[in-house]
Amino acid sequence: MSIDLTPRRYAAPFSDDITSGWLPSSAVIAAVLDTYTILVPANEGFYMRTINAALPKVSDPALREAAQAFIHQEAEHGVAHRRYWRNLDAQGYRFRGFERWVERLTFQPVEKFAPLWLRLSMVSCVEHINAFVAHEFLRQDILADAHPEVRGLMEWHFAEEIEHKHIAFDVLQAYTPSHTVRIAGLLLTAPLFYALMSLGMVMLLWQAGRLFKRSTWAQLWRHFGSGHRMVTGTLCHLWAYTKPSFHPDRLDDRALADAVFARHGREGTAWLTPAKRGAHPPSR
Ligand SMILES: [Fe+2]
Ligand SMILES: [Fe+2]
Repeated sequence: MSIDLTPRRYAAPFSDDITSGWLPSSAVIAAVLDTYTILVPANEGFYMRTINAALPKVSDPALREAAQAFIHQEAEHGVAHRRYWRNLDAQGYRFRGFERWVERLTFQPVEKFAPLWLRLSMVSCVEHINAFVAHEFLRQDILADAHPEVRGLMEWHFAEEIEHKHIAFDVLQAYTPSHTVRIAGLLLTAPLFYALMSLGMVMLLWQAGRLFKRSTWAQLWRHFGSGHRMVTGTLCHLWAYTKPSFHPDRLDDRALADAVFARHGREGTAWLTPAKRGAHPPSR
């Protein structure tokens, strides 16, 4: 296995002029991705602790090294999204109670009671979801009209989700190749992920006074239904995950990720810098 993961730090300043309307074409998508930003630090901490706990059972040194680079990338995602929380506060959102509630009701009990094989399977599943969400957003250029600093954050994260999408799956396979274990993780994780994302989206749209606007419901339909077809796309990607022959690399979309890294290089903003090895923060 080749190791092709580069941990990077996202250093855009997150200016004070970023409003809750940072994506003019869709307040709904902005609310979905703001929810993602709220949940990322706790999510990524869970991935990091789980993969770290499985490392002693991984005998392939190349996969172990790649998994450590994966942990470093996820740590940088958590750092960058948490930095953006200051902007969410400034936009008037109240979300910290929601974030703490998610931590207490999901990650803490899962980490206390679920065995490692199940936690690994959950991480593998959510990494598949992260990767296909990234694939759809980049393929359809959904953030084309977004504020550049937020677009940069989201698309850098999407690109690295594509870059490292095979790692959690490969670690799960190394730990246990059981198809039943994979499906158990899917059945637990997918409903939980979409319930939390929907709750967060509704909360933010309500706080912004947009929940009951006609335009919001039209945007919902456009994103999930007729336009970006996210519901159909999600079902197809989840179905692919249930197949015994599934592997994340069967969908070759590395070019989408490379285009993001190349754009950052061309724009010369120095927002993406190599992260120092071993400099990522502790997982909790
Ligand atoms: Fe991530
Ligand atoms: Fe990831």
